[in-house]
Amino acid sequence: MAPLRQRDMRLRAATNDEVKEVWEDRWYGLVVCLNSVYTPSDVEGLALVDHLDEMVGLVTYRVDGPAGQIVTLDTIVRGRGFGRRLLEDIENKFHKRGLGRAWALMTNDNLRAAGLYLSRGYRLVHIHLDAVERVREHKPRLPETGYEGIPIRDLWEFEKLGPLGVPVP
Ligand SMILES: CC(C)(COP(=O)(O)OP(=O)(O)OC[C@H]1O[C@@H](n2cnc3c(N)ncnc32)[C@H](O)[C@@H]1OP(=O)(O)O)[C@@H](O)C(=O)NCCC(=O)NCCS
Repeated sequence: MAPLRQRDMRLRAATNDEVKEVWEDRWYGLVVCLNSVYTPSDVEGLALVDHLDEMVGLVTYRVDGPAGQIVTLDTIVRGRGFGRRLLEDIENKFHKRGLGRAWALMTNDNLRAAGLYLSRGYRLVHIHLDAVERVREHKPRLPETGYEGIPIRDLWEFEKLGPLGVPVP
């Protein structure tokens, strides 16, 4: 198999069907946020694809006023820098649309994602204690424990204020 190189990847808009497929596979088909529940048709998506147009990562987002929410960020192949690349790409997109705030939610077991966001200049601005109880109402199959056996209970809210898209040293 040919090596997956960042420079061979390109970014394009994701179709609704692509978002649906990834969300069915990884998010039980929907995303529960603090006060809303999103289905694939509520978000826009950017796909990172290889030279055969095979997806290696997907970021979905929503824009509300001056803020852009990163709703989901998924890489199909992990640990190859595609998560970082997609995060940078979505920030650039937000920047071009004149947004000054990017934010994202994740469950309290997701140390890998937290590390990624923190290393790109995001700050943990809220811990929504027990917010996963509401998520479970919509996703009864969500396991009690997640990565590294950590009980999944809370939602962490990360935020980055502008300028967005600027490379982090
Ligand atoms: C979170 C996710 C997108 C990361 O994607 P990835 O392609 O593995 O990420 P990258 O290879 O770009 O790694 C980026 C950074 O993550 C951080 N990271 C990776 N592993 C880590 C770990 N074990 N602990 C802490 N930080 C870690 C590092 O900062 C790393 O940068 P580095 O490679 O310079 O060290 C991917 O794991 C994923 O799809 N997870 C499932 C979906 C999800 O939870 N999404 C996030 C919430 S929406």
